[in-house]
Amino acid sequence: MNYGYFDDANREYVITNPRTPTKWINYIGTLQFGGFVDHTGGALICKQDPTFNRITKYIQQMPSSDFKGETLYLRLPSPSGRRAGDDGEYLIFSPFFVPTLDAYDKYECRIGLGYTCIISEMHGVRTEVTIFVPTGATVEVRDIKVINVSDEPIEVDAIPVLEYTHPDALKQFTNADWIPQTMQSKAVQDGEYTVLIQYPFMYRDIKVNYFTSNLPASSFETDRRKFLGDNEYGTWANPVSLQNKELSNTQAFRGDNIAALLHHLGTLQPGETKRLITQLGQEHTLDDAKQSIETWRNPKSIDGALDAMKKYWDAYLNVLQVETPDAAFNSTVNIHNPHQCHTTRQWSRYLSYYQLGLGARGIGIRDSSQDILGVIANDPHGSKDFLKQLLSFQKQNGSALHQFNPLTLEGNEGDSLERGDRPHYYSDDHLWGVLCVTAYIKETGDTAFLDEKVHFYEKDPVEGASVLDHVKRALSFTRNDTGTHGLPLLGFADWNDTINLAKGAESLFTSHLYGRALNEFIDLLDHLGKTDEADEWREAHAEMKSRVEEHAWDGEWYFMYFDHDGTPVGSHKNQYGQIHLNGQTWAVLSGFASPERARQAMDSVYKHLNTKHGIKLSTPGFNGFDPNYGGVTTYPPGAKENGGIFLHPNPWAMIAETMLGDGDRAYEYYSQINPAAKNDIIDLYEIEPYVYAQNILADEHPQFGLGRNSWLSGTASWCYQAGTQWILGIRAEYDGLRIDPCIPSKWDGFKATRVYRGVKYNITVNNPKHVCKGVENVLVNGRQVTGSLIRADEGLREVNVEVTLG
Ligand code: GLC
Repeated sequence: MNYGYFDDANREYVITNPRTPTKWINYIGTLQFGGFVDHTGGALICKQDPTFNRITKYIQQMPSSDFKGETLYLRLPSPSGRRAGDDGEYLIFSPFFVPTLDAYDKYECRIGLGYTCIISEMHGVRTEVTIFVPTGATVEVRDIKVINVSDEPIEVDAIPVLEYTHPDALKQFTNADWIPQTMQSKAVQDGEYTVLIQYPFMYRDIKVNYFTSNLPASSFETDRRKFLGDNEYGTWANPVSLQNKELSNTQAFRGDNIAALLHHLGTLQPGETKRLITQLGQEHTLDDAKQSIETWRNPKSIDGALDAMKKYWDAYLNVLQVETPDAAFNSTVNIHNPHQCHTTRQWSRYLSYYQLGLGARGIGIRDSSQDILGVIANDPHGSKDFLKQLLSFQKQNGSALHQFNPLTLEGNEGDSLERGDRPHYYSDDHLWGVLCVTAYIKETGDTAFLDEKVHFYEKDPVEGASVLDHVKRALSFTRNDTGTHGLPLLGFADWNDTINLAKGAESLFTSHLYGRALNEFIDLLDHLGKTDEADEWREAHAEMKSRVEEHAWDGEWYFMYFDHDGTPVGSHKNQYGQIHLNGQTWAVLSGFASPERARQAMDSVYKHLNTKHGIKLSTPGFNGFDPNYGGVTTYPPGAKENGGIFLHPNPWAMIAETMLGDGDRAYEYYSQINPAAKNDIIDLYEIEPYVYAQNILADEHPQFGLGRNSWLSGTASWCYQAGTQWILGIRAEYDGLRIDPCIPSKWDGFKATRVYRGVKYNITVNNPKHVCKGVENVLVNGRQVTGSLIRADEGLREVNVEVTLG
């Protein structure tokens, strides 16, 4: 069974059956103000931080049928013919399906770029609700159109409802006396409109949450107990208070605060539409919100904001649009993948249906650095600012903290503090920034960035150091932080959080990442004409390469670690985890593997790790807890890092294959995890087919194929890079745009448009001989050029490039 379809023309995925196996979500707004909306209208909204400034109460673990954060009720006179107000029974239903679970004639949830639109038809009423945060605003807007699609006049009441949480989201669940004693709501009359305000107790600041609409409300409720009624034996599916003509107008001075406004929309004639707009926001005082409230009561502002949002996405996506023979590839690369990259850039791994946005996790240095790599072309300036922020969590010694809270800007070492008997740093965190710095300069040509000052986490020296210095310190830290084989020490972990070997263990992943970062940096120094310095780092690369080649080859693949006592991990001699994906792919990405070993290592990946649902991280899975290895052994075999299909490293295999010239295999790896490919197996896969997930259970697990942890995963950024920069081969370099595709041999070619440094490149790639790779001929504006690096002539705004492979 499938639960929806892709509507590429409207850049939407359309859910047509609300009973999805898990809640499917979409993001609105940004971390400045926003959150996610599920496909049944529930929403988790926060301002600047989901841990310390959360607004709506959304409990992911509660059943899908439950009210979560927000909903909308419609109320009609009962089918028995009694009219509203006769104190008879009302027919009450939610056009979002949840929480009343009514039968529907039509249900559609359109997952759009920056908005979700839920359309339903129930009991003769069509409802269209567009939920979004206008760009730059700090307010969630719900634009609700209620249409009578029956042949009879219908009298309709509309009651939008939301439930507040204490802003300290974790505290909400730690004390059921103190928290409710601090929650207070009031109603303020603003001309003909009602504004419900709620004062959450805040340590840092006094703020006010507000909820209002563009139509007069005849009554309101702020106390959940009163709304549900019957001492809360009334339910969200059937709130007792909605059987009364009016709500109780209670201003709650404690308790579980909600905001509900009852609007009598009146009698709608057949075909007639009523438009109700609600807004939920937060400001320091209600006065501060006045202007904004007025703006968003106006339907014209809403239409304008939706239009502006569409234009924002036009510009964002127009940076790269492709037309290949594969419709699913096009849909993913043109729409959904860049949308997901935009989302991971905002939310890191902090807030999703799976990442609960509680506690210290915040913004991850490693994770967000990789996210930046997926958005640099679309948003170079925003990327630069964010990158500077990440670099400010680097320590003077070159290593970096693991994560920070976006509101308090406090950094910490993350889970590496979990075990007293393990080192308290990750060996990879600081190196990812090097890839970002070089990628940013390749995109923009802005070498002056290297001189900009960024402070270290210690804020000593106060003025900080140049970006260039940050890069050198990062590389030097790893160069010096080595173990018995001269390979980088593992620290608490490398990219794989869950392999936590005893102190003294060495990581091949960190060694390879260091190699890749070195090569990027060497290219930059060469570009800057600093050849002598480049030579020094070339030496460092050669030094590490020889250590890897000398110590880390197992015969058919590379090891992944050396344990503290020198035992290889990721060897055919091990009982579990004999081969690890990252050990092979990154040996290619680093430039350390010789061509023969590179090919053999990648063939071993195909032979031992590939499955029809994606490539496994390692095999076989550990079977039972073993503190010597750490977190990886807490999962059953086939789950997550323990031999599961961990999707984030899959694109590294695609990239490695393109480096080796095998476009067929790279494309096979790409297509088998393209979310669009999961649309027809949702009963197995369960999660959103319009974004990548973090993990899928692998073949050692009885639920092989089940996906989890959708949306916030490095899979997004890396699949985007793999698909666009390596398979299509369109890559920014210091001196121009490289077009060096490595495509499936069956393709006749493809077309693409890429905006690079202000110039639009219209690219046509022809593949008459059906090869994977090899640029034979290049015409730029009809003129033949040598090589695959394209430079636009000074002053041109648009360039036609025709590439023939052969
Ligand atoms: C999670 C973490 C990421 C880590 C990966 C592998 O996705 O967010 O930082 O690299 O797991 O352990």
